Parts: sequence; structure tokens; C-alpha cells
Amino acid sequence: MSDKLYIFDTTLRDGEQVPGCQLNTIEKIEVAKALEVLGVDVIEAGFPVSSPGDFEAVQEICKTVSDTTVCGLTRAVAKDIEVAADALKFARNARIHTGIGTSPYHIKLKLNSNEDEIIERAVKAVKLARNLVPEVEFYAEDAGRSDNEYLAKVVEAVIAAGATIINIPDTTGYCLPDEYGAKIRFLMENVRGIDRAILSTHCHNDLGMATANSLAGIVNGARQVEVTINGLGERAGNTSLEEVVMAIHTRKDLPFDTGIQTQKIMETSRLVSSLMNMPVQANKAIVGRNAFAHSSGIHQDGVLKNRENYEIIEPAMVGVDESALVLTARSGRAALKHHLNRLGHDPNGDELVKIYDRFLILADKKKQLSDEDLLMLIGNGATADQSVKLKLLQVVAGKSTIPMATVHLDVMGAARMATAEGNGPIDACMNAVKKIITSDFVLDEFLIQAITRGSDDVGKVHVKIFAENRPLYGFGADVDIITASVKAVVDAVSKMSIK
Ligand code: KIV
Ligand code: ZN
Repeated sequence: MSDKLYIFDTTLRDGEQVPGCQLNTIEKIEVAKALEVLGVDVIEAGFPVSSPGDFEAVQEICKTVSDTTVCGLTRAVAKDIEVAADALKFARNARIHTGIGTSPYHIKLKLNSNEDEIIERAVKAVKLARNLVPEVEFYAEDAGRSDNEYLAKVVEAVIAAGATIINIPDTTGYCLPDEYGAKIRFLMENVRGIDRAILSTHCHNDLGMATANSLAGIVNGARQVEVTINGLGERAGNTSLEEVVMAIHTRKDLPFDTGIQTQKIMETSRLVSSLMNMPVQANKAIVGRNAFAHSSGIHQDGVLKNRENYEIIEPAMVGVDESALVLTARSGRAALKHHLNRLGHDPNGDELVKIYDRFLILADKKKQLSDEDLLMLIGNGATADQSVKLKLLQVVAGKSTIPMATVHLDVMGAARMATAEGNGPIDACMNAVKKIITSDFVLDEFLIQAITRGSDDVGKVHVKIFAENRPLYGFGADVDIITASVKAVVDAVSKMSIK
């Protein structure tokens, strides 16, 4: 039997504090709706006293969501608590999240206070909040650097005052997993009345340990975890929802039930990323562009034989269609064949070897090959047996230079070359080809297209020439657009009855 682990999402509060990530009320409502669909238990919707915008957003979110608890943050200050209660008045399930610093830094350097006074202020805040809303969560700010004995005293006092959820934030992201886990264990074992409350983890990622620390807290007794989508948050961010949830879903030795609709994770991640203008790093666990992409030949071959050779999470579980076998110069024949099959082609034996050779030449020039590139490679096969082939091309062009081209062709097995000028590089190439192919032809149509995006992309050229009283069509593709043009003309010319 799994224990319920409550998911407390603070994307709209701690996540939204990130410079440049501010949302308007409509956008916050959209995120809140997505979080409800995702299945979080609590949405921390904002810090109502901080601005009229935050107040309005919390109020509107309360009217929008149904069963999910809506929470408002406050300091241990009466005004904050009263304003938060007002902002939460339309919530079906409302929670105030109040608290105060408990580390020596916060007590002395930030609050200019002492340990006893901090406990008094904490208790007073919790009692006031408890009179205004049905549920109160208390945070001991900078608990990560607080003395455990003192922390236990604070926690005991606020539980007695009516708090039922106790947040133990590692505000500065300073703790190591063992240390944070031991802190939670210490509180579980030394606080009177702990059975009337649940402990919550709230970890920051300054040392890259937010997820590890949260899991250590959960394993040692915490039953709520505070997270954000994509790990957004102050400085290096907060614990990311997707990492904790998928660690729990993937590791059967973590017997917890999060209630998260995992197949909605990617969609939610993309929504938050685009609304907050905060791109997700490509190698981010679970939601990064490369999280399910395999590029080396050995890995691709292994994944094709059995996904579980290199994947611990089925991509569909987090809403990703399928693992991407990215085609690069390091990809093997198995991955190429897989993609060609997907595109409706089934080359085998020699044909596959030839396509793979052409694939490697192109992959050396481009970082990653797209479906269009593959279709172009297959199309290029048709020109492999043409009677005229381009062997070498050298072009001089630019401002204040007379465009000049030297073209070497293989014409039915004989090497021929010519040099010519033109009014531009392509015209010079055409003139050189015409010098080699003694029969005359006229370039009738010329169409250049970039296949996808980027300056390293493949250009496609379609031409129509008029020769021997009939139209002849040619196609060429290359990362160099002038080479693609000459290839296209040579393709058309090879259809002439050349002697
Ligand atoms: O990191 C932190 O301590 C916080 C509290 C305000 C909960 O975000
Ligand atoms: Zn925080």
C-alpha cells in the first residue's frame, strides 16, 4: 500500500519570482487550470499582500479551480495574513502559508530578533491565520541552516497553535541529501504532536541537489513536496515537479502515490515555458528536448532492439510521442532504416548501403538530419546512375570580381572540364556546363528552395531546360546552393541524347 504524497506546486509564487517570468492574471489562470488537470493537490497562487496584481490573481484562481487547494503566502505579519484571507475567500479549499526565519542568519541579521521572540511571532501568526482560514501551513525559512533542536521547538509550538502542514525549506539550497533527510527524521522523532501535522519539503537548487534533497526528505517522513514546473524558481530554481514525480513513478522502491497525471507533464512544461518566456534547457531531465533523444549508433541500435536497453521511462508516460532517434553523423544504419520505414520506404541490402553512404556525407555537413533531408537522399538515388555526373566545381564570385566557374564532369565515363565567366556564379556554371555539353540547351525554369531552417541547411533546386525540342527536368540538393544548382542542371542534361 503506497503512502499519499501531496504535491504542492509553487510555480505561480516561487517560480514567478524569477526575473522576466512575471505573468498577468489571465496567464496565471491558464497555468492554474493546467496544474489542476495535471493533478497537483495544492496551488500556491501568489503572495497577495505583495501587489494588487498578485491579490487579483489569487482571487481569480480561487474562482477558477474546483477541488485543488489554493494557497496564499504571507510573512508572519497580521496585515499579510488578513489580506491573504481576503484574497482566498472564494476558494473551495483555502490555505494560508505563513512563516518566519529560524536560522541564526535570519534571526539576527535579517530580523534583528532572538529565538524566543521568533517563536512568539510564529505562534501569533499561525493563530491569526487559523481563525481566518480552515488550513494553515507554517514555513521555517532557512530551516536548512537552522539548528535542529531549535527548529523542533518552533515546529512543536506552531503545531500546538493550529498549523497542520509544516514546511522545512532549504531556502539557500545549502543542504546535502543525507543532512536534509536527517533533519526531517529528527523532527519526525523529536517533535511532540508531529502526528497531527505533515512535514513538507521545499528545496532550492543552488548546489543542484533540490530533487535529491526532496527525495531524502520524503524517504525520512515528509508527506508533502513543494515543487515548480521545469524547476523554475529563485536563483538556480526550486525542486522540479517532473523530476520528483517521475523518480517516484520509475523507482518502485519509493512507495508513494502522487496522483499526478504524468502524461500531462510535457504539455504543462511547454505551457509554462512559453508563457514565462523561459526556455527549458535541452538536457533537462524529463522535459528537455533531448530527454528521450538517442543519437549514438550503439544507443540507437540498442533502443530499436528493446527500448528498455537505454530508456528508464516510457516517453508516452510523460506525454512524449516516442523516443527520438536523432540522425547525426554518429547514427548507424539501424536508425536510418527505422526513419526511412517510418516515412514509408523500405530499402534493404545494397540500396540501404548506398543511401547510408550518401547519408554520412550529408551528416558530416549538417548537425542533424530532418525527414525532408532523408526524402531528398532517397530522391538523389535516382540520379546516381545518370550518364553525366558532376565531379568537381570551383566558383569565384563576389563584389568587384568577375564571376568564374570551373566545372569537371564525367560524361559517360569520360572526364571533361571547362571554365567560363557569367553575370553571376550560377550563370558562370551554366556557361561552363554548356561548353562541355556541346549540344545546346536553354535554362527555362530555375527554382531554389531551402529545405528547413538554418544556414547549414540543405538547398533544393529544380530546373527545367529546353533541349532537343523538348523540356527536360532536373533536381539537385546540397548544403551549397551553387553545387545544388549545377547538380540540377547536370541531372536534366544527362537526359539529353549526348554523344
Ligand atoms: O525558500 C523559501 O524559504 C520560501 C518560503 C517563503 C516558503 O520560498
Ligand atoms: Zn522558496
